[in-house]
Amino acid sequence: MKILVATVKPFAPAAIEKIKSIVEDRGYEFTLLEKYTDNNQLLEAITDADAVIIRSDKITNEVMNAAKNLKIVVRAGAGYDNVDLDSARAKDIVVMNTPGQNSNAVAELALGMMVYMARNKFNGKPGIELKDKKIGIHAYGNVGKNVSRIAKGFDMDVYAYDPFVANEDIEADGVTAIDTVEELYSTCDYVSLHIPANKHTIKSINYDLLKNMPNGGTLVNTARKEVVDEDGLFRLMEERGDIKYISDIAPDMREQFEDRFGDRVFFTPKKMGAQTAEANINAGVAAAKQIVRFFEEGDVTFKVN
Ligand code: 3PG
Repeated sequence: MKILVATVKPFAPAAIEKIKSIVEDRGYEFTLLEKYTDNNQLLEAITDADAVIIRSDKITNEVMNAAKNLKIVVRAGAGYDNVDLDSARAKDIVVMNTPGQNSNAVAELALGMMVYMARNKFNGKPGIELKDKKIGIHAYGNVGKNVSRIAKGFDMDVYAYDPFVANEDIEADGVTAIDTVEELYSTCDYVSLHIPANKHTIKSINYDLLKNMPNGGTLVNTARKEVVDEDGLFRLMEERGDIKYISDIAPDMREQFEDRFGDRVFFTPKKMGAQTAEANINAGVAAAKQIVRFFEEGDVTFKVN
């Protein structure tokens, strides 16, 4: 049995060591393809793999066609919009994620970027504090819960909107549950996005929604760039000089946003939310263990297709 780790954005070395030892302890073969620059390298490496662990790497129909022995893809992370689930299903390939394993790292980055912007990118000019500001968590999943926990440490007022989570579960965490998405945006100084990218959410954060934000409103995106309607946000930011956008995933229109809005935007150079040793270890080890359990016990917990 051959287990491939294929990541353009490499795991921390400590995570690789742990994944390797879990895999080899079970008598499986471990192979590693890191920092590849050409999809052909992935097509070649995956040819005889029985399982693959990935991050945001794209597992397309073409990749699955090349993978003659592939039985399972584990996305070491939360979002699986990078895997063609229909093709996987058609080929009887199980796709899993590792929910929750990197969520603290993403949440810490969200709050870190908020402080950075609130303090004018540490340029020496007086800024503002997060204390007593209102933060709206758009989707109260693993990352949203962690953002809420940390925001409470800053003494922020925390609100959440999530049609898939019962209001009493949100309120049990000391968070105010909001019934409509518009109300979340009109209530909160900061809105932090934690929705997945899918056909229902792509471009859903649009002009009509964002225009509800109060004066000085900041949109924080550690989810996916695709969920934001960039044209709509650009238009709003042109009309309103108070709106700010912070994102861990630079928009396609990065240059236009930076040229036009300067200090009102901040984008990380590459997606960094889950770029911590801890998150890599948690997600990588979980992925390796899920593969072992799948092969040895037929366990399909965390299957998403
Ligand atoms: C996720 O969906 O888990 C995060 O966006 C992290 O993605 P990454 O593993 O590519 O950093």
